[in-house]
Amino acid sequence: MLWLMYFVFFLYGSVRGPLNFVFLAMFLIHYLHRGIIHPLTMRYSSATVSLGITLGGFFPNCIYHFINADFISNAIFDVDYFYDPRFILGSLLFIVGYITNRWADLKLRGLRNVQGTAGYYIPYGGMFEVVSCPNYLGELVQWVGWTLVTWSLAGLVWTMFCAATFIPRSYHNHRWYKQQFELYPLNRKALIPFIF
Ligand SMILES: NC(=O)c1ccc[n+]([C@@H]2O[C@H](COP(=O)([O-])OP(=O)(O)OC[C@H]3O[C@@H](n4cnc5c(N)ncnc54)[C@H](OP(=O)(O)O)[C@@H]3O)[C@@H](O)[C@H]2O)c1
Repeated sequence: MLWLMYFVFFLYGSVRGPLNFVFLAMFLIHYLHRGIIHPLTMRYSSATVSLGITLGGFFPNCIYHFINADFISNAIFDVDYFYDPRFILGSLLFIVGYITNRWADLKLRGLRNVQGTAGYYIPYGGMFEVVSCPNYLGELVQWVGWTLVTWSLAGLVWTMFCAATFIPRSYHNHRWYKQQFELYPLNRKALIPFIF
């Protein structure tokens, strides 16, 4: 996905303003972490992922990454856009979502603090006090920020795809926690604090 983004931006796109590079950097920062650092640092219980899940994610991701790379490498933004409320608020949401996502992933990693342990535990602290899946919530907020900052249909479609992934996943994770742990906090929601 990183290479797809990179190639479309540099070989297919035609606009090279400062904002185009800022958008590229935002996307790449996320996927450098997701594609390289995240798999190296997490303590997965299984070293393999089923082919169905891999292919089910690969093809839609190619399409959504292509349209986002196409947009950010061809959109013309004035430098004044750096002071636009959409840019400021969108960037803030992107950063807050990014930090929440990273923090929650690290917290989950820390639950398996005994080398080789592959069990499941109740996470506590921070956003885990209000939702079962703050890693998904953080990433969703990040892409909402992306949609706002790029003010694009490409961003909106990508965010909707992510929401369509995170809503059912968080619902199932949350239900699993409640079935698995008798003492699971009752006031915790799945994805959206106090709502869902
Ligand atoms: N943009 C997208 O479309 C998209 C889609 C999916 C995921 N993501 C992102 O990818 C990252 C990882 O997602 P994921 O679905 O793999 O997350 P996940 O199911 O929450 O699992 C992350 C890791 O934590 C472990 N874990 C989860 N709950 C645990 C618990 N209660 N006790 C101990 N260990 C626990 C998992 O163990 P196991 O190895 O045993 O499962 C796995 O190693 C997230 O940041 C998410 O936002 C993005």
